[in-house]
Amino acid sequence: MSSIKIQKICCIGAGYVGGPTMSVIADKCPDIQINIVDINKERINLWNSPDLNNLPIYEPGLDKIISRCRNKNLHFSTDIEKNIAKADMIFISVNTPTKTKGLGAGKASDLKWVESSARQIAKFAEGYTIIVEKSTLPIRTAETIKNILITSNQNKYKEKDSLQRFDILSNPEFLAEGSAINDLENPDRVLIGGENKKAINALKDIYLEWVDESKILSTNLWSSELSKLIANAFLAQRISSINTVSALCEQTGADISEVSLAIGSDKRIGKYFLEAGPGFGGSCFKKDILCLTYICQHYGLSQVSKYWEEVIEINNWQKKRITNLVIEKLFGTISQKKIAILGFSFKGNTNDTRESPAIDICKELLEEDCYLSIYDPKVSVKQISIDLEKPCTEPNKIINQAGKWSFSRSIMDASKNADAIIILTEWEEFKTIDWSQIAVNMRSPSWVFDTRSIADLNEAKSQGLNTWRVGNG
Ligand code: NAD
Ligand code: UGA
Repeated sequence: MSSIKIQKICCIGAGYVGGPTMSVIADKCPDIQINIVDINKERINLWNSPDLNNLPIYEPGLDKIISRCRNKNLHFSTDIEKNIAKADMIFISVNTPTKTKGLGAGKASDLKWVESSARQIAKFAEGYTIIVEKSTLPIRTAETIKNILITSNQNKYKEKDSLQRFDILSNPEFLAEGSAINDLENPDRVLIGGENKKAINALKDIYLEWVDESKILSTNLWSSELSKLIANAFLAQRISSINTVSALCEQTGADISEVSLAIGSDKRIGKYFLEAGPGFGGSCFKKDILCLTYICQHYGLSQVSKYWEEVIEINNWQKKRITNLVIEKLFGTISQKKIAILGFSFKGNTNDTRESPAIDICKELLEEDCYLSIYDPKVSVKQISIDLEKPCTEPNKIINQAGKWSFSRSIMDASKNADAIIILTEWEEFKTIDWSQIAVNMRSPSWVFDTRSIADLNEAKSQGLNTWRVGNG
């Protein structure tokens, strides 16, 4: 057992990682008081909303945990100073997006929010404090954080005192959105990188409340930081690989779902992450691979950098390939045609649209002067407007709204008078669409494009619809 017993945790960043991760820790460790802080007041207000349907993120099972723990040992606040001061462990769980300008723009991760968190900690922390990197970070970021803690505190503490007051651990998060609670409750592994065994054990003790010891891996700081980037790069690489094969299947008469099953049955390959689709989305795969390529270039490994860049290239190619294919099938032009988009989030069971393939695909279609009616069970009209950089228009029966889009509240509504339906997210309800009703609702000849292999296309076909499924030759 460690001799450091954690009683108060502060988590900086109440987002898709901070929110669910701290909720699960609170649920499993009732003796620990957890305060999640954020600079975004609106987000904190939503976390504190009495109506659990208003939580800022949708994640199955999260509402139940919030109702059990909120205002007991789980608190959401904008009072960063007070909550940092009283914590014995601080998780940094802030955003680390790709830099948009300056040195490394378009590749390097923007660490300004991590840096500001470190400065806040340096300023407000009191007594010995363990700092945990939860955000995904470039290798050797812990060194930067340590530097900030030491140097920005010169006036208050001597350098030696600052060194002893803090320990830094890397504890990357491997949850996937849509299954976050299950991933957190039953992780494949928990990774803790650090230098001080006592600090590592203090964090390990928290996880031991519900995770088997054999699944908790301790490494050095740099292995831990790098492993997170590499895990995402490998996962994304599998998707790009299977998406290239989907195109080959379409040309040759093979079927991607049969090929995935056949190759995935080999234990060495494994059956997960072999579903062809419209390309991977989400806030992390692209950003983390870009970060990896930047690191490789920094260390003079240009071949390695090029190798990983290709995973992103293929992802862009898949999105473009699908857009072009839709246009070709609709007689080479979609101008003045209405297309229903089913699903806008980057995957099922989340309201997150960051890097969703739907964004690029919809933008390209709108460029061709079609009219889109978009339906998603969880994404808001406001979010879609932000992503498409265009306001929503009122739905209109007359198809004269070239380059515009409207928001639909049902599949039926979206498909009314549409020439085509494109399924872009694997929401459960798309499995059971009643195609007999949809078929009479659309304009003929009508098409269904299923980029997620989720719909019952045999049924759609029997109702007279033309169908296309990714990877189906
Ligand atoms: P997010 O944007 O949803 O949340 C980050 C939050 O941090 C925001 O609400 C922001 O306002 C807040 N913040 C930023 N600077 C702050 C500061 N100085 N003080 C207080 N609050 C501050 O991001 P996310 O999706 O939760 O991702 C966070 C990190 O976790 C990223 O590094 C990401 O790569 C990593 N990660 C994400 C996932 C995922 O599925 N989203 C999974 C694993 C790891
Ligand atoms: C991913 C990883 O799976 C997590 O382990 C990691 O913690 C997280 O990134 C992160 O660092 O942010 P996430 O992006 O939430 O999680 O969701 P995934 O399930 O990985 O899906 C990513 C994208 O790949 C989605 O667009 C999804 O539709 C697509 N995908 C996934 C496929 O096209 N095919 C598949 O077989 C699997």
